Amino acid sequence: MAGREFSESTDKILSLRPVEVRRYVTFTRINHWFTAICFILLMLSGFALFSPALYGLTGLFGGGQTTRWLHPFIGIALSVSFLGMFVQLVHLNILRREDLVWTSQIGDVIAGHEERLPELGKYNFGQKTVFWGMFWVILALLISGIMMWVQYFPTLVSIETRRIAILVHSISAVLIVLVFILHVFAAVWTQGTIRAMTRGTVTGGWSWRHHRKWLRELARRQTSKPAE
Ligand code: HEM
Repeated sequence: MAGREFSESTDKILSLRPVEVRRYVTFTRINHWFTAICFILLMLSGFALFSPALYGLTGLFGGGQTTRWLHPFIGIALSVSFLGMFVQLVHLNILRREDLVWTSQIGDVIAGHEERLPELGKYNFGQKTVFWGMFWVILALLISGIMMWVQYFPTLVSIETRRIAILVHSISAVLIVLVFILHVFAAVWTQGTIRAMTRGTVTGGWSWRHHRKWLRELARRQTSKPAE
């Protein structure tokens, strides 16, 4: 699709002075925050089931039994919700040549020398890694979780396989918590990013600095047709 390689059709430069750029429509933001809430509930209920030392966390969910039946259902809700984000954003998270250059110059990224880095589309390599990390780990959690869901799938797998599933589930849970910490840290560390998911917009300066190819594409698209 012409002019849609690095952006979504709904992304739009909204004003010229000061320039504000729409990054996420309301639907995507609701989708994101619903996923995030599910994730936090899963993390808390999962920790409660993970170790007797953390059993006290079941108090947040109305006791041990409620936590035990609720946790898998929240997992299904998160999987469906994440799938919604995945479908909307997967085409913008495909690895490209400039991602390799960006990664090889990670020192410049950390030092904030963005002028030395290649121009990027809507996401950088770090964001794409988080995206794919979340995707694979959520898939592992979902599949292993269903294998462990004795209440509904008692004969799906043998006891031996279920033991492996429990191990995979625990390792994946630790991994996703690490990916989550990285995601939140990056969002806070890159000033002006959080508002993309709260207000839905970022400044023109932020877009120029961090995702110039994305901004250029929006500008090209909007100057080649009358303003909406
Ligand atoms: C509560 C903590 C969270 C905060 C503060 C947060 C913040 C953000 C922000 C600011 C963005 C926009 C980044 C940008 O457009 O450059 C974003 C994007 C995104 N977030 Fe979160 N988020 C949180 C939790 C989560 C969770 C739990 C998930 C999934 C399990 C998630 C999945 C995503 C995805 C898939 C994107 C799009 C980035 C991409 O496609 O590469 N977020 N988040």
